[in-house]
Amino acid sequence: MSDPNKEFDGIRQGDNPLPEWWKWVFLGCVIFAGIYAVYFHGFSNWGTGAYYAAQIEDYEKEFPNKNVKIESNDGSNPFRGNQGAISAGQKTFQTYCVACHGPTGEGLVGPNLMDKEWLHGNTDLELYETVMKGVPMERTKLGRGPMPPHENSLGSEKVYQVLAWLASKNLELKPSK
Ligand code: HEC
Repeated sequence: MSDPNKEFDGIRQGDNPLPEWWKWVFLGCVIFAGIYAVYFHGFSNWGTGAYYAAQIEDYEKEFPNKNVKIESNDGSNPFRGNQGAISAGQKTFQTYCVACHGPTGEGLVGPNLMDKEWLHGNTDLELYETVMKGVPMERTKLGRGPMPPHENSLGSEKVYQVLAWLASKNLELKPSK
């Protein structure tokens, strides 16, 4: 009986050596893998750690200090008159508020924010509460729809920026009572 490793079902194993070129390619792969592993773990920033850190950085650029509370004693907006905050706030308004309050804040579904009439108060503190917490349907004055809360989507810093922009446009918005 012949060796089953050499012949099976009429198929014969040749036991030829691997071709020279194949061995060199194999050796090349092993060397490359070694160098690559050292480079990847030791010197590159291609790992998931760096990628994750970059993602966090991007996120924080978009939603800076999401949960940080900016305390001011009388509830007035600390960003009043701050040009950087005002222009950042205008951009945020264009993204998050125009759909309901219109491109210049003159009102659509939501009320006009540029006039003298205020449904939920005209101080920084009252507006801050309105924008952060929103106005649920049962508390709306107009009944045209709720004002959504922005405490999670924008956070305090961005809300104060929007209100700084609003205060620069509408002088009826007072720092405090
Ligand atoms: C989905 C629509 C919608 C979006 C988006 C929205 N609002 Fe409103 N907002 C409303 C409605 C509706 C009211 C009025 C609620 C009522 O009838 O009492 C309101 C009320 C307000 C008030 C109170 C106005 C007053 O007269 O007292 C302020 C201030 C305000 N919104 C600011 C904002 C800001 C700033 C943003 C963006 C960050 C925003 N809103 C996004 C719908 C919206």
